[in-house]
Amino acid sequence: MSKTATITIGNNTYDMPMRGGTEGPEVVDIAKLYGQANVFTYDPGFMSTASCESKITYIDGDAGILRYRGYPIEQLAEHGDFLETCYLLLYGELPTAAQKSDFDYRVTRHTMVHEQMSRFFSGFRRDAHPMAVMVGTVGAMAAFYPDSADITDPHQRMIASMRLVAKIPTIAAMAYKYSIGQPFVFPKNDLDYTSNFLHMCYAVPCEDYKVNPIIARALDRIFILHADHEQNASTSTVRLAGSSGANPFACIAAGIACLWGPAHGGANEAALAMLAEIGTVDKIPEFVQRVKDKKDHTRLMGFGHRVYKNYDPRAKIMQKTCHEVLRELGIKDDPLLDVAMELERIALSDEYFIERKLYPNVDFYSGITLKAMGFPVSMFTVLFAVARTVGWVAQWKEMIEDPSSKIGRPRQLYTGAAKRDYTPIGKR
Ligand code: ACO
Repeated sequence: MSKTATITIGNNTYDMPMRGGTEGPEVVDIAKLYGQANVFTYDPGFMSTASCESKITYIDGDAGILRYRGYPIEQLAEHGDFLETCYLLLYGELPTAAQKSDFDYRVTRHTMVHEQMSRFFSGFRRDAHPMAVMVGTVGAMAAFYPDSADITDPHQRMIASMRLVAKIPTIAAMAYKYSIGQPFVFPKNDLDYTSNFLHMCYAVPCEDYKVNPIIARALDRIFILHADHEQNASTSTVRLAGSSGANPFACIAAGIACLWGPAHGGANEAALAMLAEIGTVDKIPEFVQRVKDKKDHTRLMGFGHRVYKNYDPRAKIMQKTCHEVLRELGIKDDPLLDVAMELERIALSDEYFIERKLYPNVDFYSGITLKAMGFPVSMFTVLFAVARTVGWVAQWKEMIEDPSSKIGRPRQLYTGAAKRDYTPIGKR
């Protein structure tokens, strides 16, 4: 017999079906609860709510596990490359050699953007935050690529997906170049995805630029780590926007807007700012005291996670990558790294953090690494958006292709005024 959960409200009981996934907690399917009992469930922040069924990414936050399509993140980051991860997320399986070279070819052939888009950039202020430029330009892709906007056509869906994955590095590099007043650099199709991105960011027309393969590999690994993370805030935003049948490019722009917040993708920027504010190792105890003081509202940025109540598996790989990059660039003494390592050591042995299961998250070391690679702080979240685009696209496609998908329409607990009559303005 299939398992049910019984909900008792007053003298009435309601049997709700339960469903189990491949792994992770079972769910109580309460879709019919309102119809039967005239009550809603209340769960702000989705603390206990699965908002959809998905086959893409699995996280066990207590055990510190992250898998894409069943494959552990550690194995993908060690042995694979970012485009292979993209293929895996989009198609569900690792590609064969022939599928991989075909996919790489197709992505590479979509890297250029419509020429009119370059002029679109010049409407922005030069000092605009590159994330503001990303939200605007990715949303504007809806205007430039209307021929891949019919979401009911699988071919157009795939073209829109390829365009997003392929063009996002070009747009991100353009946002960077625009902010520093340098000419845009066209994609170079003989380079791999990540080397091409570095080339578009750092090359200038007046001299040759050779991409450092160790830095390219490190950034490629950072992209793999950030490619998907199941139903986080920005992905849920993309799904909610897409659930109304909205234009795919506009949905991804909505995800970028959500990612920008400091509690989400903006955390690496905030973590680096925090390390700079602390400045030196001797100032750490005073800072940790402030974090523990409830009246102070200071948080240890790059620490804690809604889902991981254990070491974020991405943080371990990120820490290793950080050391590799600093070594390759000959940066022997980075005071920020010293502060980060000591802060991590103290936090992992302090009762306040142990009790609350606060561990470093992926953003703790990514800021130091990206800064060493030459990216300004304002670009950090943009790089996250470049990597996460494939996850957003895969989740959006999965939702559109699921025949049971409905428009996302949460309900509420209304606590506003009860009915009252309108009073003319002169009588208020
Ligand atoms: N520093 C200090 N205390 C913290 C921190 C932190 N970074 N994070 C949580 N806490 C404390 C809270 O004060 C609270 O303590 P209390 O029970 O005494 O009130 C307890 O831990 C639980 O915190 P919540 O805010 O309820 O946890 P939630 O799951 O809602 O928050 C979040 C998760 C937003 C990530 C939080 O840990 C945070 O703000 N971290 C810093 C920002 C950050 O690094 N974000 C990146 C997330 S990863 C990503 O987006 C890729």
